[in-house]
Amino acid sequence: MTIPFIEPFRIKVVENIKMTTREERIEALKNAKYNVFAVPGADVFIDLLTDSGTGAMSDEQWAAMMRGDEAYAGAKSYYRFEKAIQDILGFPYVLPTHQGRGAEGMLFGAMVKAGQTVPNNRHFDTTMGNLQVIGANPVDLPVEESEDSELIAPFKGNMDLVKLEELIQRVGVENIPIGMLTITNNSAAGQPVSMDNIRDTAAIYKKYGIPFFIDACRFAENAWFIKIRDPKYKDVPVREIVREMFSYADGCTMSAKKDAIVNIGGFVAFRDKELKGKIGANLIVHEGYLTYGGLAGRDLDALAVGLYEGTDEEYLNYREAHTRYLGEVLSAAGLPVYKPTGGHAVYVDAGKALPWIPPSQFPAVALANALYIEGGIRTVEIGSLMFEHTDPETGEQVYSPLELLRFTIPRRVYTRSHLDFIGEVAKRVMENPKDIKGLRVTWAPEVLRHFMAELEEVE
Ligand code: F0G
Repeated sequence: MTIPFIEPFRIKVVENIKMTTREERIEALKNAKYNVFAVPGADVFIDLLTDSGTGAMSDEQWAAMMRGDEAYAGAKSYYRFEKAIQDILGFPYVLPTHQGRGAEGMLFGAMVKAGQTVPNNRHFDTTMGNLQVIGANPVDLPVEESEDSELIAPFKGNMDLVKLEELIQRVGVENIPIGMLTITNNSAAGQPVSMDNIRDTAAIYKKYGIPFFIDACRFAENAWFIKIRDPKYKDVPVREIVREMFSYADGCTMSAKKDAIVNIGGFVAFRDKELKGKIGANLIVHEGYLTYGGLAGRDLDALAVGLYEGTDEEYLNYREAHTRYLGEVLSAAGLPVYKPTGGHAVYVDAGKALPWIPPSQFPAVALANALYIEGGIRTVEIGSLMFEHTDPETGEQVYSPLELLRFTIPRRVYTRSHLDFIGEVAKRVMENPKDIKGLRVTWAPEVLRHFMAELEEVE
């Protein structure tokens, strides 16, 4: 027998989960207006909504929390946090924030004005939302291969460099205050970005004098993919790969709720000391003082330890195999899985799974709801409910390039039998897929509508 992977940890604390009845789930989904975001967590059996803040902290992280120093200014916890970021990422300056979107808000607030453009391989929803509320224009420039869910290629998360130069020349460098790159590329199926692409993106930004910031949420998973997929890096330790990745950037925003394996926290890190002054006042008004930024001292300590654990090679080896295994299980269940499997999640091409449901009726939401009813599994749509918009130039309705359903895997939380159970539920759903109905929006806010949208089934 070959063992697909083994968890490099054992369980010390457990949290019981309870399976509801089908009738209870039908009722819960109806009450949630067919949007799983509004289903109470207690009514979910296996929660794959997100890998953000849902990881299990280690004994070392809990122990570090007890050392938390809650001084308002200059807490010991802050200096341990700062040291970990300097050591792992290599940026000299860092400001803590309550989570990733806080970091985005602080950075953009200091650098971006209404009417300006910010390029990215693909903005995640909160990054896009943070720019839109300023009145700026986020532009996604993914490589074309990211939109082909069948194509096996190592770095489908890359930035399209030709399109990046075209954009800079078209809108003018004076209208681009900052350039981003998201690693791994969450909105593009969690695909990694290659070291070459990071370096080349940086070179283009540098050529035009545009400050380059990395959206670093899943930097460690990205570094692991570089190690296993780029032969040049196969013998390079992950922490060295990480240092090289960030050496090309002027700074980063980070949601520590992902690869730093904490339940809350984030930061913006950078090289330019002046930026501290520019962001500082805003940080104090909106997040907290410079050395805690909306977090408790104990959170900073857990984060510092988590940065080391999240870049541990044994852990990353397990993490990638665990995610890949769920991809295999879901493929065997008859779902069209986006290939290759990403780092933090398995993405299913729901447009392909349910081709009779058009993008305007959100096939990935329909599949999410069917999985919830069948087995209490909560997944999340990364498709047109999230990304549909009106093109500002043509006035046309633009749908998401792919209607993806993300099975997001919390870190160190679910075992292989949980993954096998998810496969069984998916198999049952795919036995009678024609029963699955599309949806229409009955109410939604203007920005970030997927979080709050109310829907009904289309008969
Ligand atoms: N950038 C990326 C690429 C993200 O995936 C997220 C969060 C953020 C920024 C914002 O970070 O949640 O700490 O404010 N993604 C979560 C997800 C919510 O489910 O993918 P945050």
